[in-house]
Amino acid sequence: MAQAVPQSMRVITTNNEMSQACREAVKPVGLVPTMGALHAGHLSLVDQARADNLTVIVSIFVNPTQFGDQKDLEKYPRDMEGDLEMLRRHGVDLVYAPTVDEVYPKGFNTWVDVGPLADKLEGLQRPGHFRGVATVVSKLFNVMRPDRAYFGQKDGQQVVVIQKLAMDLDMGVEVVVMPTIRESDGLAMSSRNVQLSPNQRLAASVIHRALCQMYLLWSGGERNGDVLRESARNILRAELAVDEIDYVSVASMVTLDEQTTIEGRAMVSAAIRMGSVRLIDNIVLE
Ligand code: PAJ
Repeated sequence: MAQAVPQSMRVITTNNEMSQACREAVKPVGLVPTMGALHAGHLSLVDQARADNLTVIVSIFVNPTQFGDQKDLEKYPRDMEGDLEMLRRHGVDLVYAPTVDEVYPKGFNTWVDVGPLADKLEGLQRPGHFRGVATVVSKLFNVMRPDRAYFGQKDGQQVVVIQKLAMDLDMGVEVVVMPTIRESDGLAMSSRNVQLSPNQRLAASVIHRALCQMYLLWSGGERNGDVLRESARNILRAELAVDEIDYVSVASMVTLDEQTTIEGRAMVSAAIRMGSVRLIDNIVLE
């Protein structure tokens, strides 16, 4: 009797070859876009994609156009061998790992701008960040034409931006949002966590504690945005200097505008800096 042979994972580096492989792939196709240095948060998206689709693609591309700061880009963790090993174990079919020149050839000059959503929260602190994200994700969708694409709630504004671009540009891709995977002390898993010193790592869970405090107040019926923001700031100040708190926000999930009185679905979020490491996290109030 024939034995089922596990299909080996293919790693592809060019647009043409990737488009071709996707045209031949068994549908539905699920895509998980990443910048590599994979951890359990990324793998939760891969596992969901594996459960939902017949072909699973993971892209690994540290996208230079979403980094404002050249140093941040240079020190972004990279571990292609380790990543490929994990993806093999999680049953991925295709990995797309293009070079910067493949994605942005000489003369590249077309950008995806999602409007005011890109200028709030993270966009205020990192001008141009979401233009880079929206552009690269649009390009990935166009090269691979997946049926579904998986994103983490960890990057809450990114999810809102990508849902908007998928709808506005008729991408025909179902955007699937997965919950944030956390360490045991509540710190959201992030590729950047390895850059924290042991002391910073211990203190970093403060961001989750601050968000939980906002969630608790909201669950108890508090609807005043300022009361929530102030309570979170108080918790953050125990571990951080005032200038290390980039923002504390209670925003509408639709417009990302700050809420004075919380109505409907809202997202509490915060961004802090510990040394040169920037951490973000959020909880959806629903
Ligand atoms: P990256 O930071 O590598 O994250 C890839 C995906 O994993 C994103 O959708 C992110 O939200 C999700 N993710 C990260 N940490 C997570 C966690 N702790 N729990 C659940 N999901 C988590 O986000 C990007 O890359 C890039 O901006 C990208 C979309 C690939 C465009 O370049």
